[in-house]
Amino acid sequence: MPGTINVLIVYHSDYGNTEKMAKAIEAGMRSSASDTHIELKQAVDASPNDLLGADIIVFGTPVHMGSMAWQMKKLIDEAASLWMENALQGKLGGVFVSGGGFGGSGGGAEMTMAGLHANFLEHGMLVAGFPKSSLGYADGGLHWGAYARSGSHDGMPQGISDSQLTAARSYGAHLIDVAERLYG
Ligand SMILES: Cc1cc2nc3c(=O)[nH]c(=O)nc-3n(C[C@H](O)[C@H](O)[C@H](O)COP(=O)(O)O)c2cc1C
Repeated sequence: MPGTINVLIVYHSDYGNTEKMAKAIEAGMRSSASDTHIELKQAVDASPNDLLGADIIVFGTPVHMGSMAWQMKKLIDEAASLWMENALQGKLGGVFVSGGGFGGSGGGAEMTMAGLHANFLEHGMLVAGFPKSSLGYADGGLHWGAYARSGSHDGMPQGISDSQLTAARSYGAHLIDVAERLYG
């Protein structure tokens, strides 16, 4: 990867929680000393062509009934044409998810993240998890990627916490670090 690391963060967000995570991941990436070019796009505005120029592709979604929002799945299915050409092979992927988390077990967050990983791996991409030594991990980390719970114990929306956004920032910095080690 010569010089600049190109990053594309694609996400869907109905109520702004996943979008906050996207911006925190971007901020964490910008805090790195590396030369980066970072683009954020909502899934409905993204096309498969957008994926081609990125060295790191980061997908984020709210958990919807135990899996990703349809807006992310639509992009993923449209990008299947790239699979035929191995066009994404060797790129680095990362994932982040926000869920209401009613019940305390995450309400399908891990399955949603694993579903996003499966898509990256189908394309022959590499996938970066989230090391437990990272700042904020205890509040906003899962080994699959960054996670933030936006619901209260009563199942009501309360928004995601600062410590979860700290974790998202660490995850962004981690993705750049991994890319540097792999391709730098
Ligand atoms: C249609 C729908 C289905 C949802 N299903 C789940 C679910 O299965 N598990 C969960 O933890 N949260 C679920 N939620 C809650 C959202 O994942 C949660 O509020 C999330 O933080 C919203 O992110 P956003 O603000 O980026 O839209 C659901 C929300 C909606 C609108």
